[in-house]
Amino acid sequence: MSRLIVISNRVSVPKTENASGAQGGLAVALGAALREHRGIWFGWSGQETDSFTGHLDLQRQHGVTTATIDLESQDIDEYYNGYANRTLWPLFHHRVDLTEYERSFGEGYERVNGRFADSVAPLIEPGDLVWVHDYHLLPLGKFLQDRGIRNRIGLFLHIPWPPTRLFVSLPFHERLVEHMLHYDVIGFQSEEWHESFCHYVEKELGGRVAADGGTIEWQGRSIVTRAFPIGIDYAEFVEAGATEVAHRAHDRLRASADGKKVIIGVDRLDYSKGLVERFDSYHRFLTDHPEAAKDVVLLQIAPPSREDVHTYQDIRNTLERSAGHINGAHADIDWVPIRYVNQGYSRAELAGFYRAARVGLVTPLRDGMNLVAKEYVAAQDPDDPGVLILSRFAGAALQLPDALLVNPHSSEEVGEAIATALAMPKEERIRRWQGMIGSVRDEDVIAWRDDFVAALSGPAARAAA
Ligand code: F6P
Repeated sequence: MSRLIVISNRVSVPKTENASGAQGGLAVALGAALREHRGIWFGWSGQETDSFTGHLDLQRQHGVTTATIDLESQDIDEYYNGYANRTLWPLFHHRVDLTEYERSFGEGYERVNGRFADSVAPLIEPGDLVWVHDYHLLPLGKFLQDRGIRNRIGLFLHIPWPPTRLFVSLPFHERLVEHMLHYDVIGFQSEEWHESFCHYVEKELGGRVAADGGTIEWQGRSIVTRAFPIGIDYAEFVEAGATEVAHRAHDRLRASADGKKVIIGVDRLDYSKGLVERFDSYHRFLTDHPEAAKDVVLLQIAPPSREDVHTYQDIRNTLERSAGHINGAHADIDWVPIRYVNQGYSRAELAGFYRAARVGLVTPLRDGMNLVAKEYVAAQDPDDPGVLILSRFAGAALQLPDALLVNPHSSEEVGEAIATALAMPKEERIRRWQGMIGSVRDEDVIAWRDDFVAALSGPAARAAA
């Protein structure tokens, strides 16, 4: 088995009991992917230094070897807060209105990718497979090749790839994708994002997509591109759900709900998650179904993220106003309709909360995959499961067609779905849950890793195995 060198912006190996729900799917998935594989996880420590030193901090954390570098404040501003989170993130989530283009962001992005390449290249040995993750590091494969690395290098994009007509609004879009075409394998969360990428390469760069629908021929190079839908670490999550911590969390939420049905949402505080629209939909439900409303409480857990980016400060303010407004309009002396919580919880606690909730409300406006939807399904009691309401615009919708699929922009549709979910008979809840649990269990993070690593190993290595 080849060694795996995993490279991502952040390196944070989650511990089951203490990992925070703020981490996002990537950290959880990569921790699981590497734990059973020899290798190294390289990336930014999350720390800021006065000036970049390139010092490499090697550690062993919860069964995984990590190697991290600190970045200086200009790097963080231009690369992480700038190009990654003020340019690419909104654009790739179809928010052209929030997308900012500044020359210094692009320069900082390439500079930091160069620093990553300089720092990780000495750790790479012949035969290692190099697996780069996400939108922070799109040009890294090319930069590693510029430094003499001849290993096979793959990229997995955890977020959507936008339609061509949106993507071309990015200045120097050709340069970014030409850099990407130096990878051997490029993976996407869903076929939709994969098709958009192939469309762009054919239309704008004159590349050719082979009849298999995925192999791109470009300037004498051959790049395998495909959808590799990510899953949760099912076994680990079920184990977390069986702990004392999970049971206590379950009982605590049930007791505090005092017989009312709980609707749960768990998201990083991010405008792509559709939280404002979700609150509007819930408001609509409360207004249109006053008889059902008093028997319900919405628990929205939303740990803040990317707090130095002004659009994230704006969304936080908007949500606070919205929750205050809805509670003010509907609350009674012994009931508040929304419990809006800005802290993260351990995975075990989340497993307990999910199981205690009759409805899981997962309504992003655009999402690469969304693992909360899968965790909600995994946490349910098979004999009395809750109902998942899921946005059509999450990658997960393709794998979970038995959820109540909704358009998150329509408060009417989501409001009615909430009413339907709350009134759904047990037989239908069980039938829908049974339609989803197979894919959540079998298409897990381990299957995802093995699938990607097999593609990255290349046809010759696969034939020899
Ligand atoms: O999946 C998208 C992603 O940006 C991951 O790369 C990241 O781990 C997660 O969301 C959380 O974001 P951040 O690292 O910016 O807090």
